[in-house]
Amino acid sequence: MSEIKTIGVLTSGGDAPGMNAAVRAVVRAGIYYGFKVKGIMHGYNGLIQDNVIDMDLRSVSNIIQRGGTMLFTARCKEFTTEEGQQKAYETCVKHGIDALVVIGGDGSFKGCQAIAKKGIKCIGIPGTIDNDISCSDYTIGFDTALNTSLQMIDRLRDTARSHERCSVVEVMGRHAGYIALNTAIANGAMAVIIPEREFDIQKDVIEKIIESQKIGKKNFLVVVAEGIGDAAGMAKIIQYATGIETRATILGHVQRGGSPTSRDRLIASLMGCKAVELLKDGEYNRVVALKEYKIVSYDIEEALAMKKTIDPYFLHVADIVSI
Ligand code: ADP
Ligand code: F6P
Repeated sequence: MSEIKTIGVLTSGGDAPGMNAAVRAVVRAGIYYGFKVKGIMHGYNGLIQDNVIDMDLRSVSNIIQRGGTMLFTARCKEFTTEEGQQKAYETCVKHGIDALVVIGGDGSFKGCQAIAKKGIKCIGIPGTIDNDISCSDYTIGFDTALNTSLQMIDRLRDTARSHERCSVVEVMGRHAGYIALNTAIANGAMAVIIPEREFDIQKDVIEKIIESQKIGKKNFLVVVAEGIGDAAGMAKIIQYATGIETRATILGHVQRGGSPTSRDRLIASLMGCKAVELLKDGEYNRVVALKEYKIVSYDIEEALAMKKTIDPYFLHVADIVSI
């Protein structure tokens, strides 16, 4: 018999398509296994401000296909303080919440660690478009964000081709280049600039454009990760050095919205169920992960200490097929 009676679920940090599917899976699996489930609104803010709702099977009807998160999300400074964490703990006690499932990124998992120290059992589910959670090959939202970027950049390619221009596109990823690198390969970009690899605009972009112009190439696509930034400045430098008319576009938050792809709905459903099953089996303070196509879990501490690196083969492919 599980010592847990009531599970709280919240979404935290940047929203990601598929978070709703994960909430739905947590609620449905929780009820299936005999737990009460409560939804906490606006991330950790909901725990500090006592904004908690009862969830039943029907509270999560018709959300699997929706972007965003029905529980809302937030970044909550107060929760990083001892006073904030104490208030959050007291809200859990008031509602009988013994365990929390937190859908978010690394920062949100640090929040789990903090409240776990007070005795609330926690499970983290990786939800961020950035795909930058070290313990997991995949994070909920990444595939939808990639497909959105893909479609937007296809449109930019049409206009760059018609005008024989260079298009510099900034995609999301404050600290990580996964969206940029994957999009660059899938969109056929001639150069990709990410925080994980040193770059030299002269050698990696300008000289490449000049060489390709000599063999008849007339339009160019450069993808830059948000972590590097300054797409507009880069466009000016490229235009000045190569003579090709260049435009910059920042895709921004458009990548965070939209109906989740089948991959995001599927992985979110599997991860949500797994989170509840871990709690049922008495395993807690863990992060659910996808590893080699299997849903597994890691101790939170271990998960946060892991390092994720860009697969050099992806960079190799991006470089050789981009001529
Ligand atoms: P993500 O979860 O996407 O990485 P953030 O880094 O913004 O997003 O973190 C989300 C929230 O998690 C923060 O607003 C804060 O409430 C909580 N959090 C982040 N770091 C800590 C920490 N060291 N201790 C406690 N809570 C934290
Ligand atoms: O972590 C997801 C992400 O979209 C990053 O790619 C981006 O840098 C950041 O969130 C933007 O955050 P905000 O929603 O605060 O603008």
